[in-house]
Formats: sequence, structure tokens, C-alpha cells
Amino acid sequence: MGIVTWGKEFEIGVPEMDKQHQRWIEIINNFYDNLERTNVENKLKEMINEVLDYTHYHFSEEEKLMESIGFSEFDGQKKMHETITGKMKEYKRKIDNNEMLMSITVTNELKDWLKNHIMVEDKKYADVYNSKK
Ligand SMILES: [Fe+2]
Ligand SMILES: [Fe+2]
Repeated sequence: MGIVTWGKEFEIGVPEMDKQHQRWIEIINNFYDNLERTNVENKLKEMINEVLDYTHYHFSEEEKLMESIGFSEFDGQKKMHETITGKMKEYKRKIDNNEMLMSITVTNELKDWLKNHIMVEDKKYADVYNSKK
């Protein structure tokens, strides 16, 4: 089921970043779908690591691209990236300590953020990037 369904409306018009966003959502959805299953603690530890690894990878690629075009809202983007990374690290901390992580918490914290961040915030650098081509 997942947390967010990928669709064309997520495309920002930078093919490499669209590809990364699609993969990123897939990894987050995978993690999310396993949250409420029982006896998957080890699997969950693996999955949250995968979420964090891919998130780091995507943000660093995106930040390189934003810097390369002198994107004026770079600092704001970076802060948003840090905030959401912080939340994901908190999920990891809970899972590693075998604490309960409610899927509703993850839904509330990630769902709208992801949509807004990709469709609105990332779209801004994509438009600048494409206007400079
Ligand atoms: Fe992004
Ligand atoms: Fe971003």
C-alpha cells in the first residue's frame, strides 16, 4: 500500500532527480509497509538503514545540483533536508532500541512533507535548472 503513491504529478522535469525520487519513495514505502508486521525487527533495522542511506545519497546529489546552478533557496532546502533526516534518524533510534514506532507517526510526519517537498520545493530548483539549459 505504501505511504505515498508515485505518479506523474511528482515529476519535476529533471530526469535523474525524477528517477531518484521514484526509487526513494519505493524504499520509504517498503519500510512503511513492514512497520506493523510482527517478527520483522531485523528486517526493519535493515530497511530503516536503507531509507537513511538512500535519503543521504539523494539529498547530497540534489544539493550538488542546486549548488551548480546557484539556486537562491539552497539554504532553505538544506534545512528541510536536515529536518526530515532528523526524523528518520529518530525512527532508526527507536527501531534499534526495540521501541515501538507507530506507522501513524510516520504517516503524519512524512506523507505531506514528501508531497510538498518534491512537488513544490524541488520543483523550484528544477525550473531554474531547466531555464538555464
Ligand atoms: Fe528531492
Ligand atoms: Fe529536496
